[in-house]
Amino acid sequence: MVGKMSRIEDKDYQRELRRKIKQLKQEKQAVILAHNYERPEVQEIADFLGDSLELSRAVTEIDAKIVVFCGVHFMAETASILNPEKTILLPVKEAGCPMADMINVKKLRDLKSRYPGAPVVCYVNSSAQVKAESDICCTSSNAVEVVRSLSEKEIIFVPDRNLADYIQTQLPHKKIFAGEGYCPTHMRISDEEIIQAKKEHPEALLMAHPECPPRLLALTDYIGSTSGMLEFVRKSPAHEFIVGTEKGMIFRLRRENPNKKFFSPSEHFVCADMKLTTLGWIAHSLENMVHEVKVNDRIRKKARKSLDRMMSVKKVNK
Ligand code: 13P
Ligand code: SF4
Repeated sequence: MVGKMSRIEDKDYQRELRRKIKQLKQEKQAVILAHNYERPEVQEIADFLGDSLELSRAVTEIDAKIVVFCGVHFMAETASILNPEKTILLPVKEAGCPMADMINVKKLRDLKSRYPGAPVVCYVNSSAQVKAESDICCTSSNAVEVVRSLSEKEIIFVPDRNLADYIQTQLPHKKIFAGEGYCPTHMRISDEEIIQAKKEHPEALLMAHPECPPRLLALTDYIGSTSGMLEFVRKSPAHEFIVGTEKGMIFRLRRENPNKKFFSPSEHFVCADMKLTTLGWIAHSLENMVHEVKVNDRIRKKARKSLDRMMSVKKVNK
């Protein structure tokens, strides 16, 4: 039977990997960052956990030269745009975001010519090229503030049509022209699953990520980024929560709130790309210094402008 055990389940192998990662980290003076959706064992060895905005900020604030970024490509790329002097490693080259791939420069230019004069807000889940072609970037935790900060009434928002729709509900005086993108993970959740979860846990509050479809958001008690959910739970007197986002989030919520209960409304709430990073790939990444994420200087400088503009909005509104 031992032969059937996968290496991810083999405790001795996992222990050895953790030891190896610790040693490599010391040798190379590297820091490990992980998104809230990563596998539990990856979250456990990370020096810093966070949502997209927190991770971008963290890379800028830490003084390590080598950063292993456990997340998906656009996150590591954003870290590299903000910190070109640092070596940003993405352990699994193929870890991407299908939503980020739903917008490109050509599609964005088509939108711009359809709505001339409307500034472009791009969700951080996008390529460096798209960021470079946009006026300002945003993440799920500051999207409403970013759009509110613009003086124009008409705004182009790419790529997430669900996040665009949510912003529109919060800022009815604006007119938002949305891209056609969506997150396949957050779109997978069905109304029946949410209704069933609410029936099974009548005392639980429903939290959801704004990448979820509008009909689901209409049923929630809280809408926010992954770290926004952590803060909501921390402050809430409630004891039970249905977590309307990727299942990796539940590990962190349980760890930080051992006296509260968390339920996922669906077995299918899994982002396959976020689950690609394993301890084995992190060790491999540090040992071989792969896969470095870099952006060419011309694109990087333009993309940085939309990120810097976003960062300044957050500071003003905080
Ligand atoms: P957060 O910024 O809320 O962590 O979201 C990132 C993401 O990709 C959600 O699917
Ligand atoms: Fe992209 Fe969705 Fe995965 Fe987030 S959960 S990284 S938006 S595919």
